[in-house]
Amino acid sequence: MIFAANFKMNHTRVSTWNYVHDLRDRMVEAGVEHEVYVFPPASALMGAHRPVVVGAQNAYPAMQGAFTGEIGMEQLDEFGIHTLLIGHSERRMLLGESQEKVAEKYAFFKARNYEIIYCVGEPIEVREQGDAAVEAYLLEELEGIDIHYGRLIVAYEPIWAIGTGRTATPEAIASTHAMLRRHIEAPLLYGGSVNPANIEEIAAVENVDGVLVGGASLEVDSFFEMMTKV
Ligand code: PGA
Repeated sequence: MIFAANFKMNHTRVSTWNYVHDLRDRMVEAGVEHEVYVFPPASALMGAHRPVVVGAQNAYPAMQGAFTGEIGMEQLDEFGIHTLLIGHSERRMLLGESQEKVAEKYAFFKARNYEIIYCVGEPIEVREQGDAAVEAYLLEELEGIDIHYGRLIVAYEPIWAIGTGRTATPEAIASTHAMLRRHIEAPLLYGGSVNPANIEEIAAVENVDGVLVGGASLEVDSFFEMMTKV
């Protein structure tokens, strides 16, 4: 399984360093074989290799330049980072990232062979309209994205399940992942209030190849516990 930890705007440079080393030691000691990613904030990026891959939550589609507040490829290169989250709903909603901008980032980093975890997910109003509306919404979020890219992982994260404690039911995850699977061959992650209490149920759903975890990844105990349960 793939386990990805999205720290969002949590943790510092020091706490991230301690977390990654602690996690790596526990994984090696327990012989955990999952593919594990940690996405710390930009100020805490660090070089790290398997079994824990460190990626960036965001980057601007340029090597460097006049893009105030952003980091680009030059800054990622310093840490040997070649893994990136693109299209998270918090960036789309809170920071106004349009599908056009998301697609531009995707194309830029794809052309440079980055491993990309690309996020899609519908708001509650769309979910309430039923499966056809969800499919149309998610396909719009894939517009301009080369879904056949070999280093792509797709994360399905219903917005109404993120940070709310309200996980999608296994049936809803199964039907949405089956729909995505008809379009996408890449590994499919589920995200949205995944935690040690529900990981077994979620991991057992067909077409769930892994999870993208926010809140429950912040403590190494809880993130590691999930890995030992499946
Ligand atoms: P959550 O966040 O696990 O806190 O719901 C998931 C995410 O947004 O990646």
